[in-house]
Amino acid sequence: MDTILVVDDDPNICWAFEQFLQGEGYTTLIASNAEDGLKLVAEQKPDLVLLDVRLPGISGLEALQQIKVSHSQTQIVVMSAYDSVGNTIQSMCLQAFDFLPKPIDLDQVKSVLDRATQLYQARDKIVVFPMETADLLAEPKPHLIGKSPQMLEVYKLIGIMAGNVMTVLIEGENGTGKGLVARAIHENSARRHQPFVTVDCGALPDELLESELFGYEAGAFTGAQEKGKSGKFELADGGTLFLDEIGNMSPALQMRLLRTLQDREIDRLGGTHTVPINVRVIAATNANLEQVVQTGLFRKDLYYRLKRVPVTLPPLRERPEDIPCLAQHFLNQSGIELNRSFRGISEECLVILQAYPWPGNVREIENAVKSAAAISRSDVILPDHLPSEIQTFTVSLETAKTEIGSVFSKMVKQMLQNESGPHGENGLYKEMIQILDRELILALRQELGNNHSQIAKQLGISRTTLLQKIKTLNM
Ligand SMILES: Nc1ncnc2c1ncn2[C@@H]1O[C@H](COP(=O)(O)OP(=O)(O)OP(=O)(O)O)[C@@H](O)[C@H]1O
Ligand SMILES: [Mg+2]
Repeated sequence: MDTILVVDDDPNICWAFEQFLQGEGYTTLIASNAEDGLKLVAEQKPDLVLLDVRLPGISGLEALQQIKVSHSQTQIVVMSAYDSVGNTIQSMCLQAFDFLPKPIDLDQVKSVLDRATQLYQARDKIVVFPMETADLLAEPKPHLIGKSPQMLEVYKLIGIMAGNVMTVLIEGENGTGKGLVARAIHENSARRHQPFVTVDCGALPDELLESELFGYEAGAFTGAQEKGKSGKFELADGGTLFLDEIGNMSPALQMRLLRTLQDREIDRLGGTHTVPINVRVIAATNANLEQVVQTGLFRKDLYYRLKRVPVTLPPLRERPEDIPCLAQHFLNQSGIELNRSFRGISEECLVILQAYPWPGNVREIENAVKSAAAISRSDVILPDHLPSEIQTFTVSLETAKTEIGSVFSKMVKQMLQNESGPHGENGLYKEMIQILDRELILALRQELGNNHSQIAKQLGISRTTLLQKIKTLNM
C-alpha cells in the first residue's frame, strides 16, 4: 500500500495528515471536497481513502458508495465527529474498511493503516478463489463438497443406494453431513419428484413422536384434532422418510418401526384398519448405535434391519484435504447471502483452517467461514476474521511446542547430571529419538487405532520402518 487520499474540508486536518502520512512513507493526495476526491480516485487510484462525512457538496457517505461501485478494491476509512453512532453504522453498511471518530487519534490511524497494509499483502497470497455466482447457481443440488478418498467412497454409496429402495443407516459425528447425504440419496433416486420428509426423533417426546410418525384418527386421545391427522409415513408415501437421530427413539417405538418396515403398512393411533405404505426409510445417528445396542437401549433386530447398508461419514479431521474446497464453497455461499463478492482466503488463514481439528466438523467450518466473511471489511478473509477459538488453537500448538522444548531441556539436564545415565551406552541422540518415536506412535495409535499403514503414512515413513521401530521399542 503506498498512495493515500485524504478528503476533508478542514485544511488543518489535511495538513496534519499530510505530515503524518509522509512521515510514515506514504504518498499523500489531498482534496477539500468529495467532487475533487472522486476525480483523484479516478486519476490516481489511491490504495486507501480517508474520507470525512460532512463535506460541502456531495457528502462523504455518498462518495463512499460511488467509490465502492467504480473502484471496489479501494479501501475507505470514514472519519466523522457528528452523530458518530449513525455514521459508524451507516459507513460499515456501505462497506467502509473502518471508521475513525474525530478528533483523530494518530495511534488509531496507525493501527488502521497496519491492518490495511496486511490486507494488501494478503491479497497477493490468496490461495482459495471463489467461483462466479452464475456457475454456482447452475450447480446441481444438494452440493456435496470434498474430493478426499473417504468422500469418494461416500459418493459411490450414495449412487448405489439411490438405485434401490433399501433402508439406509447413515452414521457420523455431528455436522458431518448426514442430513445432506440423506437428501442426496433421495434427489438422485427415482423418487426425487416425490416427497422427502424429515422427522427428528430426538426432538419429540415419545407419544408425540408416535403420532407424528403414524398419525391418528379423530378422538384417538384427548386433544386429538377432530379430523385426525396423517403421520409422516403417510405424508412420505411414494417418497423418502428421513428419521434423524434414530438412536433417541424409545424401545416401544423401535418395535413399532421394525414392524412397519417389515409389513410395509401402518395403522394410525386409534385406527381400525391398516394402510399400505410405499416409503423408503433413511435413518441417521451420531451415536455409536452398536454400543447403544450393547447397552440394551436399542433393539438389535432393528439395528441390523437398518444397517444392511451403512453409510459412514468420516469426521473432517480425518480428511484435511477437503478443507480448502469446503472453505471455498462456504465463501461462495457467503458471497450470495451477503450480496458481496469475495476474492478469496489468505494463505495464512488457510494454514490455520487446515491445522484446526474441527470437533463440530463441516457445520463448524461452515459457521467459521460465514462469520469471517460477514465481519471482513474487505473481499479477503484473514486470520483475524476467524472465531477466536480457531485463531487461538494454533497459538496453543505453538505453546505445545515450547512446552515440549522445556520438558526436553529438563530431561537433558537430568541425563547429563546422572553420570551412569541411559545416554551412556547409546548416546543422547538415540535415547531422545527413541522417546520421541514412542510418543509419536502412541499418539497416532490413539487416533488411528492399530492401523500400521495409516500410522506409517502419517509419519511419512514406510510400513516396514514403522514395524521395525515398534519392535525395537518393544511396543
Ligand atoms: N460434504 C459437504 N459439502 C458441503 N456442505 C456440507 C457437507 N457436509 C456437511 N455440509 C454442511 O454442513 C452443515 C451440517 O450438515 P448436516 O446437517 O447434514 O450434518 P449432520 O451430520 O446431519 O449433523 P447433526 O448430527 O448435527 O445433525 C450443513 O449446512 C450442510 O449443508
Ligand atoms: Mg442432522
